Amino acid sequence: MADEIFYRASVQVSNEGGRNSTDINVGSWKEREMTWHVLGGKSDYPSGWQKCWEEDRTPWDLGHVTPVIQHLVQTDALPKGRILIPGCGRGYDVIAMASSQRNVVGLDLSEAAITKAKKLAASSANANSTTFIVDDFFTWQPNEPFELIFYYTFFCAIDPKTRPAWASRMAELLKPDGELLILMFPISDHVCGPPYKVSVSDYEEVLAPFGFKAISITENEHAIEFRKGYEKLGRWKRTSN
Ligand SMILES: C[S@@+](CC[C@H](N)C(=O)[O-])C[C@H]1O[C@@H](n2cnc3c(N)ncnc32)[C@H](O)[C@@H]1O
Repeated sequence: MADEIFYRASVQVSNEGGRNSTDINVGSWKEREMTWHVLGGKSDYPSGWQKCWEEDRTPWDLGHVTPVIQHLVQTDALPKGRILIPGCGRGYDVIAMASSQRNVVGLDLSEAAITKAKKLAASSANANSTTFIVDDFFTWQPNEPFELIFYYTFFCAIDPKTRPAWASRMAELLKPDGELLILMFPISDHVCGPPYKVSVSDYEEVLAPFGFKAISITENEHAIEFRKGYEKLGRWKRTSN
């Protein structure tokens, strides 16, 4: 079920590229199987992610900035300062958030993804406010913590066993009054992954021990068509330090 939601997004994106719909449907399902094969059934398999990016098997890639990020930028609803986007992929959201008041770091363990992201960012107006780093989110040590961490299609891409470690990293990487902005997806009840299913309580369970409390949880009204109803936007801050 969620596989379908996740990968039908690529059908929509491909459609914009002008392929006919039969090819698109067949192609996207083949692509999904090949991607799974390349990842070896393990979402924490670094060379698998690298291979996906090298071979352009990236059915999760929207091909553009995440619409809700575009909305938050346009309505000036994001904190200023240092921002981190782990598992940034091709970096659309890094580029969209970057400004003279926001320095945005895109982190991904795939060198091929970061090469593509740097190329895309090079011609953007705020290229000087972007930094792209190849490293593992679970071990990377930045010089300074962040005001904001934005997260999308990454919690669902990591092995659920690593979620407590994920939350611990969030606490380390954010400033004490920093904010965690999470686009939770796919909120569903399927059993396999990646993408693994997520729920608001999955996040709460691992974030609460580090003092994080949700300051808002809303339906994502800006979700792309095939993900509508399966996404919520959560903003979290720490209440105790
Ligand atoms: C499903 S993709 C999503 C990419 C991007 N967020 C998007 O929505 O297009 C997950 C990304 O996380 C990266 N990734 C997986 N595990 C990682 C880790 N431990 N540290 C950093 N990046 C990781 C992969 O290379 C991949 O680019």
